[in-house]
Amino acid sequence: MKKIIVALIFLVLPALSLASGGEGYPLQKAPIDPHNKASLQNGAKLFVNYCMGCHSLEHQRYNRMARDIGLTEEQVKDNLVFTGAKVGDLMKNAMPKAEAKRWFGVVPPDLTLIARSRGVDYLYTYLQTFYLDPTRPFGVNNAAFPNAGMPHVLWELQGMQKPIYEVHKDRDGHESKVLKDFELVQPGSMSPPEFKEAMVDLVNFLSYAGEPIQLERQRIGVWVVLFLVLATVVFYLLKKEYWKDVH
Ligand code: HEC
Repeated sequence: MKKIIVALIFLVLPALSLASGGEGYPLQKAPIDPHNKASLQNGAKLFVNYCMGCHSLEHQRYNRMARDIGLTEEQVKDNLVFTGAKVGDLMKNAMPKAEAKRWFGVVPPDLTLIARSRGVDYLYTYLQTFYLDPTRPFGVNNAAFPNAGMPHVLWELQGMQKPIYEVHKDRDGHESKVLKDFELVQPGSMSPPEFKEAMVDLVNFLSYAGEPIQLERQRIGVWVVLFLVLATVVFYLLKKEYWKDVH
């Protein structure tokens, strides 16, 4: 009996996950390149200008970021620090948590690990799919994160878009609206391709922030492998030397 139940669970589980995942808006692939320093720098600039008012990167220091993305500490101090922090400080923001909760209903989460917890494709899609929805407190909703409590903070760049739905009918004839696409109803200061490119940079930066050691690790990895190869040769020769009289 137990076996049958277990078998049934395994049979039904995949179907359940399909059922819940099938309806969601499809995620777009984020074409990020962690080696592209210009992209990381632009992403950092966008982050401090448009996101840090509400979100922090509490595990990242300004000077560490400077080094990793190819800026001098001076450049960071002059262009990227707006909070009065020192370059050696963590990238915290000044927003009081209690106020934030009152304004938004939720405290804006720290974004240090967001790329790892949610994935870069999710972030890329999330940032591009805010759309007009008069039923929501800030007048916008989001395709990747339905009923998100965040306003469309990049509307000046992207403009405002309205949703285009497709009506789906299931086998019983029930109709449901499925979000298919968007139509730009009020252009922003960037063209759609420019905005897309900017979001690649921003997601690239958030991905870096979640794993600053990434680039270094690849570099160190090569030396580790070389060392292991060399060590193997040395140990093999040693073994031959030690055992040569034992026969
Ligand atoms: C005006 C304040 C504000 C600004 C500015 C802001 N956010 Fe948010 N953000 C929020 C709030 C509030 C939430 C929590 C939403 C929720 O959980 O419903 C949030 C949530 C998020 C999430 C989490 C989504 C999830 O799946 O949990 C991400 C990612 C995010 N913001 C990215 C950004 C980025 C990138 C920027 C800069 C372009 C930015 N935010 C600017 C208020 C803000």
